[in-house]
Amino acid sequence: CGIIGYTGSENDVLEVLMSGLSNLEYRGYDSAGVAIANDSLSVEKREGEVSALEDALPETGIDGLAGIGHTRWSTHGPPSDENAHPHTDCTDQVAVVHNGIIENYQDIRTTLEDDGHTFQSETDTEVIPHLIEDALADGANPEQAFREAVSRLEGSYAVAAVFQDSETIYAARHESPLVLGLGDDGHYLGSDVPAFLEYTDRVIYLEDGQFARMTPDEIVVTDREGAVVEMAVDTVAWDPEDAGKSGYDHYMLKEINEQPLALRQCLRERVSELERTITVDELADLERRGPVQFVACGTSYHAALYGARLLREQGIPAQCFLASEYDARSIPITDETLVVGVTQSGETADTMSALRGANQAGATTLALTNVVGSSAARECNYVMYIRAGPEIGVAATKTFVSQQAALAMLSGVLSETHSSELIRRLRRLPDQLQQVLDESAVREIASTYVDADAYFFIGRGYNAPVALEGALKMKEITYKHAEGFAAGELKHGPLALVTEETPVFALITGPNAAKTLGNVKEVEARGAPVIAVTDQPELVEQYATHVLEVPAAGRRLTPILANVQLQLLSYWVANELGRSIDKPRNLAKSVTVE
Ligand code: G6P
Repeated sequence: CGIIGYTGSENDVLEVLMSGLSNLEYRGYDSAGVAIANDSLSVEKREGEVSALEDALPETGIDGLAGIGHTRWSTHGPPSDENAHPHTDCTDQVAVVHNGIIENYQDIRTTLEDDGHTFQSETDTEVIPHLIEDALADGANPEQAFREAVSRLEGSYAVAAVFQDSETIYAARHESPLVLGLGDDGHYLGSDVPAFLEYTDRVIYLEDGQFARMTPDEIVVTDREGAVVEMAVDTVAWDPEDAGKSGYDHYMLKEINEQPLALRQCLRERVSELERTITVDELADLERRGPVQFVACGTSYHAALYGARLLREQGIPAQCFLASEYDARSIPITDETLVVGVTQSGETADTMSALRGANQAGATTLALTNVVGSSAARECNYVMYIRAGPEIGVAATKTFVSQQAALAMLSGVLSETHSSELIRRLRRLPDQLQQVLDESAVREIASTYVDADAYFFIGRGYNAPVALEGALKMKEITYKHAEGFAAGELKHGPLALVTEETPVFALITGPNAAKTLGNVKEVEARGAPVIAVTDQPELVEQYATHVLEVPAAGRRLTPILANVQLQLLSYWVANELGRSIDKPRNLAKSVTVE
C-alpha cells in the first residue's frame, strides 16, 4: 500500500495528494482515497485504480488545509469503496490511512462495538479512528488521542491522521516505512520518496517507534515517550524525471532500457580495472568468518540463487533460502554466519521477518537493497545498495540486473581474491547489455509464439536461476503458464509435458553449453520448437528453431545478458496480448505482509 500526505500553502492539497497517489500506484492499486481537512473533513475513496478516484472527485476540486491519501493492496477485506482508506470515526472528526497489519484489531473492534461504535468497513485500520474518537471524547487533544490510539496497536503500521478544522498531520511508524519531505512552505509525508519527489528532495526517514507532527511551518519528531528527537535531513539523489515514463509505453520497457545505466551506477567507484580491485565502501569493515545464507523472495530469490553460486565458486559455503521458508531457530546459525537479505524494496515482510530472525539468532546481517532508508537497510548490520534508481513496474527488471552485478561484486569482496577477469568483464557489461537491447530480435519470436499455452525455460549452472526468472516474468505479466527448470532436470519428469506446441527457451552460454545442448536434443526429438539464447550460435544453430545471440561475457556474467532477452520476450508477448504490463492482476511491487 502507499501513503501520501501534505500540509502547506505552496501547492494545492488535492493536487499533491493525487499526484502522490499516481506515483505510488505501484505499491497497490485495488482502491484509493483521500481525506482533506477543512472546517469539516472531505473524504473521497473508490475501489479500483487511482483514475477511478479521479473520476469521482468533484469538478470544483476540494479546498483544504491539509490532507492524506492512500492506495491499497488488500489484506483485510476485499477491494471495495468501503474498505478503501482513509477511514473515519463515527463523528467524522478524524481520518486515518494505514499500511501494515494490526494483529489485535479483532479484540479492539469487539470492545469498541460493545461500546456502541459502528464500523463501515471490514478493515483492521478502521479501529484507529474509533480509538481516537474515544480518546477525544475523554478530553484528550488530537495529538494525545492519536498517541493513545497508536499505543493500543500490535502489529506493523505506518499510520497518518488528519483532523477536521486543523492543518496538522499526525503520523507514526512501526515496521512499515514512512518518510517526511521538507518543502519551503509546506511539508510532505509518504510511504516512500517517489510519492512527493517532484516537490522536494529533502527528506527525514522516520524510525520505528517514532511519531511526527507536521504543520506547514514545522515538523516535530518524538519518541514513544513523547521526547523530541533531532532528525537528520537527507537529500535524495533521484531525479523526479526518473519516476516518469519518459516516452515509453510502459515503465517496464523503460526500466529494461535503463539497465545499462543502472549497471553503470551500480559499478561506479566500486570496480577499478586500473587497480584491479572491487571496493564497496559500505562494506569496508565487514569481515566474513563463516558461511553465508541468502534469504529473498520472488525475483530477488533468483538473484540470490545466482549469488550463492558465485560465492561457492569462490570457496565460500553459501546457501539460499526462500525468505518465507527460513526459520532461524531450526538451522545452524552462529555469530560467524552472515545472512544476506536480497530485497529490492527493502520492505518485503517475508524477507524482513527472516532477517529479524537471523539478527535475533546472533548472525551478522547484510541487506542488498535498492531503497535507501528502507527497513532492511536500517535493521541489518550492513547494507549494500544496488543503486538501480526507482523501479515502478511491478515486475522487477533493472533491479534484478543490478542485484546480479552487486552480488558479483559481493563475491569479490567476501572472497578477497579479486579476479581480474571478473573485474574486466564487469566493466564491459553495461556496453554489452546495451548491445543486446539494440540488436535483440526477440520481438518477432514473441509474436510467433504468442498463442502458445505454455512456455518452458531451461538453463544450467548460472543460467538455472535465469531460467526460473524467465518463467516467473512470463507468468507475472502475460498470465500464461510458464515453467523454468535446471536443464538437467527436464528429463526427470517435466519432459512429459513437452509437445510440438511447447516453445522451449534454452539458455546455452559458457562452458556448459555442450551439456545443455544434450537437453535441447531431448526436447527437439519431441518436436518442440527450441529458441536458443546463446553466445555460441555456431554450436547451437543446427538444433535450434531460432537463435537469439548475446555477447560473451564469461561463464558468470553472460547469463545476465541472456536474461535481458527473456525480459523482452515476456514484455512483447504481454504487449501483444494487451496485458496490464506495469500492474499485473493480483500482484503488488512491495508485499508488506507475510
Ligand atoms: C513482490 C513482487 C516481486 C518481487 C518480490 C520481492 O512479490 O511482485 O516482483 O520480486 O516482491 O521483492 P523485493 O522488494 O524484496 O525484492
